[in-house]
Amino acid sequence: MSSWWCAVHGYNHPKLTAAISAQLEQMSHVMFGGIAHPMASELGKRLIDITPEPLQQVFLADSGSIAIEVALKMALQYWQSLGQKNKNKLLTVRGGYHGDPFTCMSVGDPDNGRHDLFSHAIAKQLYAPRPEICFDQEWNEQDVKAMRQVLEQQHNEIAAVIIEPIVQGAVSMRFYHPEYLRQLRALCDEFSVLLIFDEIATGFGRTGKLFALEHADVCPDIMAVGKALTGGTMTLAATITTRKVSEGISSGNAPMLMHGPTFMANPLACAVACASIDLLLSTEDGSPYPDGWQAKVQQIEQTLQALHIINDHPAIASVRVLGAIGVVQMHEPVNVAKVQASLVEQGVWVRPFGRLIYVMPPYILTPEQQAKLCSSIVHTIKTLY
Ligand SMILES: Cc1ncc(COP(=O)(O)O)c(C=O)c1O
Repeated sequence: MSSWWCAVHGYNHPKLTAAISAQLEQMSHVMFGGIAHPMASELGKRLIDITPEPLQQVFLADSGSIAIEVALKMALQYWQSLGQKNKNKLLTVRGGYHGDPFTCMSVGDPDNGRHDLFSHAIAKQLYAPRPEICFDQEWNEQDVKAMRQVLEQQHNEIAAVIIEPIVQGAVSMRFYHPEYLRQLRALCDEFSVLLIFDEIATGFGRTGKLFALEHADVCPDIMAVGKALTGGTMTLAATITTRKVSEGISSGNAPMLMHGPTFMANPLACAVACASIDLLLSTEDGSPYPDGWQAKVQQIEQTLQALHIINDHPAIASVRVLGAIGVVQMHEPVNVAKVQASLVEQGVWVRPFGRLIYVMPPYILTPEQQAKLCSSIVHTIKTLY
């Protein structure tokens, strides 16, 4: 599971440990209000380098969900600064997940039960149906029709659309068609609504591209990354936006984005994030990815295809693989206790939920370990179902 999808280089990589230790000997915390530090600027440069060209301004937040809160605040403050006071609603698709704080919950799937307990206190946002056409199916314009309708009717009150690009992760582990994102970009432009991509789960190579948006070749106005940003070592996330959005925000009554958590841009986390990005992109001798991270993720994708061997099993609804993500969807909810016990017995830890048994392995797994992961899941299903 790569520790909830973030420990892409495995645990205790010496380069990451060395980066934290070196920073620890200098400064472990810098209050980032009005004072900066070299590691934050190094990380900002790297993020600007590896994300699409229009994304130029970086806010370093302290966790994935806070990066989403920041993205949403950026969008809301942008329209306030421009004097468009009515644009204060958020639009999203069903089946999404963006974190557990209140505004994140408000743009998460309203029906999956995770946030039911708080529904009375969660702001009411706007929802379009989830994208239905799968990643490798034939595209059909109907898929984006309902989204167009909502935008057509309510764009005057909508600040932004937020979506997980390509992979709807924590709710359903579904891979949808890249054309959806291209059409969504065009709709947001047509109706003057900002587009936010939540790349917290998909960023840093997980889907076979450095960022999932590259499958569609579109650029959002705001993008959030987290999880694998520090290789799973420390909590850190980033919200990256365009000059247009940041200058728009600063043109209002408040000169800057109104957000400033105590641990933003923590120097230890920034140092290890720089080291993790360098490690991912390095092909030097001794790097875990001498042929490039893409080759490694492609190789994992290839091995995970072995899961398709149970396609025809009566308990299986579907099997899907994209990059270093393998998903087995059952017809009925998984008996988590039994499935986990069987897998642990074989030396494997995964965390099924709902009808899903899925894997997001660290990129450093050997082909043998990857094969074992697949064969253990297949064995478990064949013996328990
Ligand atoms: C797509 C997405 N957005 C946001 C989050 C929240 O990130 P964090 O748990 O770091 O707050 C998650 C976490 O799983 C996620 O998958």
